[in-house]
Amino acid sequence: MNIKVNDNFKNIKETYLFSEIASRVRAYKEAHPEADLIRLGIGDVTLPLAPVVVKAMQDASAEMGVKETFRGYPPESGYEFLKQAVSDRYSTFGVSLDLSEIFISDGAKSDIGNLVDILGENDIVIPDPVYPVYVDSNLMNGNRISIISGSKENGFLPMPDSITEKKSAVIYICSPNNPTGAAYNRDQLKEWVEYALETGSLIIYDSAYEAFVVDDLPHSIYEIEGAERCAIEVCSFSKFAGFTGVRCGWTIVPQALKAEDGTSLNKMWFRRQATKFNGVSYPVQRAAQAALSEEGMVQCMENIEYYRKNAALLADVFDSKGVFYTGGRNSPYIWLECPDNMGSWEFFDKLLNEAHIVGTPGEGFGEAGEGFFRITAFGTRESTEEACRRLAGIL
Ligand code: MLT
Repeated sequence: MNIKVNDNFKNIKETYLFSEIASRVRAYKEAHPEADLIRLGIGDVTLPLAPVVVKAMQDASAEMGVKETFRGYPPESGYEFLKQAVSDRYSTFGVSLDLSEIFISDGAKSDIGNLVDILGENDIVIPDPVYPVYVDSNLMNGNRISIISGSKENGFLPMPDSITEKKSAVIYICSPNNPTGAAYNRDQLKEWVEYALETGSLIIYDSAYEAFVVDDLPHSIYEIEGAERCAIEVCSFSKFAGFTGVRCGWTIVPQALKAEDGTSLNKMWFRRQATKFNGVSYPVQRAAQAALSEEGMVQCMENIEYYRKNAALLADVFDSKGVFYTGGRNSPYIWLECPDNMGSWEFFDKLLNEAHIVGTPGEGFGEAGEGFFRITAFGTRESTEEACRRLAGIL
């Protein structure tokens, strides 16, 4: 062929982090078929969907089989019934949204990856360690990235003062953070919003883990005054309602967001989605609406509570062994320091070989993650308890 490919792909790692882990685990399992592996690597949920969600999906599927209630293509940015449910959820945080600012999608990952489509040549600021999609999607687009490092010293919550050159940029923030579980408080987030407004920056705020927040911390960046003029927020039903296999999420692009030439980012995102995305299926949108209903919230929160208990069990082991960690309280992730100055892939191998536990090496989330390791609380209670026993034995 004489076609040219996107050379920027040469700048990303050959394999996506979780594909790399899956292939290493497959190889290990082939060599050791008897190993009883406990998978606490990728943050995938294990509890089934809430009953009210299943019922809504079944009812909606039945509607699709009847001439009078059958539906074809959904509206580009989602059915109004689901947008209204999302807007109602935001009202509980004191945030008022116009339905035109809400875009329903098949999950936060796609939206985060696709948002680069509407942005031009900008400086990009990304905290490290962080969800690899931010870095990869910007590298794929040939964007310049500056890294701001999280560390034990700053509690893995870098602040604007860690940016060397104060100028406009697209800044990614994930809070509660994946992978560290650390979460910004209101004052810290206020500092970020003020910095963005002052420099004319855009914050892309990933709130996929907000349902895990128990302390008095913001669930949404729009709880901070002025954020509607500098932030896009991306969220998901994956962790909150167990939709990792169902696929549904949303992105908020406020009407007040205007680029330097006055272009509306809301209009651009609408245009991008209308061209490249054909919406989320009707049964899934009904299921998502049910998850946000009063009954749905109670049922989904029971599941979150279950994962929280898992996190507390894991945290107890690390406490008793004097291991430094962040997260595990407002987040399903525990981010621990590898023992004995081990590298994070070295600790990955040790855990796999000696305890048959799969986790995620911190280095996979960026250089600042070297020497750290992520364990998820999304396992079953039984496997988490067994993991705790094994961890206590090798730490
Ligand atoms: C993770 O383990 O970091 C997440 O499950 C990945 C994702 O949400 O795409």
